[in-house]
Amino acid sequence: IGQVIELYESVSSTQIIAHEKAKDGAKHGTVIMAEEQTSGRGRMTRQWSSPKNTGIWMSTILRPTIHPQEAPPITLVVAVAIAQSIEELTGIIPTIKWPNDILVGSKKIAGILTELQSEMDVIHYMIIGTGINVNTEEFPEELKSIASSLLIETGEKQSRVKLAQLIWEKVEKLLDIYEKHGFAPIKLLWESYVQSIGQEIQARTLQGTYQGIMRGITDKGVLELELSNGRIVPIYSADIEIL
Ligand code: BTN
Repeated sequence: IGQVIELYESVSSTQIIAHEKAKDGAKHGTVIMAEEQTSGRGRMTRQWSSPKNTGIWMSTILRPTIHPQEAPPITLVVAVAIAQSIEELTGIIPTIKWPNDILVGSKKIAGILTELQSEMDVIHYMIIGTGINVNTEEFPEELKSIASSLLIETGEKQSRVKLAQLIWEKVEKLLDIYEKHGFAPIKLLWESYVQSIGQEIQARTLQGTYQGIMRGITDKGVLELELSNGRIVPIYSADIEIL
């Protein structure tokens, strides 16, 4: 991963470029990066603020040799790689909020947007978009209470190049483990960065809002929520909030 890197000054979204390149046959591990995105995308049709020269705005093309059903945990693999890399570079121990937000304290530092192109039994390609607030000095008013950057948290500028390299190294290593041994070993690492297990949470899904105790995740990366009547429901996709 990161053998081929295409770096742009300014793009609408690196996700869009990565899709084009993947359709043109770009190989596994190709990375599309930009200094600035004018319409960065977040999960659930949200926007992602991507001001010039402050963060790592990148989309990685993966062609994993797995079944499409085994694709969802890859987002969690990347979350672990980012958390480990931030820890190694800065000494700060971040936490992961299911499914894939990386926080320091209660504020978001990084997010992951995974897009899968598959049919029936084959994955054509995956695009892993990662946005990491590295040297952001100040956030717009509406983000101040929920977002932070490594600069704000450590008081020092951090190297975006070093951080990106660490992430590529770790994604490669962890993906290899996932392909060979499945999710169990990754799950242990993921759980070591998660704080909300055993706590009361609220999960907002497209089907409705559920409240209960987060019991953990399954070997497929699905969140297990225990309702007050003791029933455990699987949550595949949601925004969660610790109560
Ligand atoms: C989220 O937390 O909602 C996911 C944010 C993903 C942002 C990254 S930045 C690089 C790539 N290009 C985009 O437009 N989005 C992702």
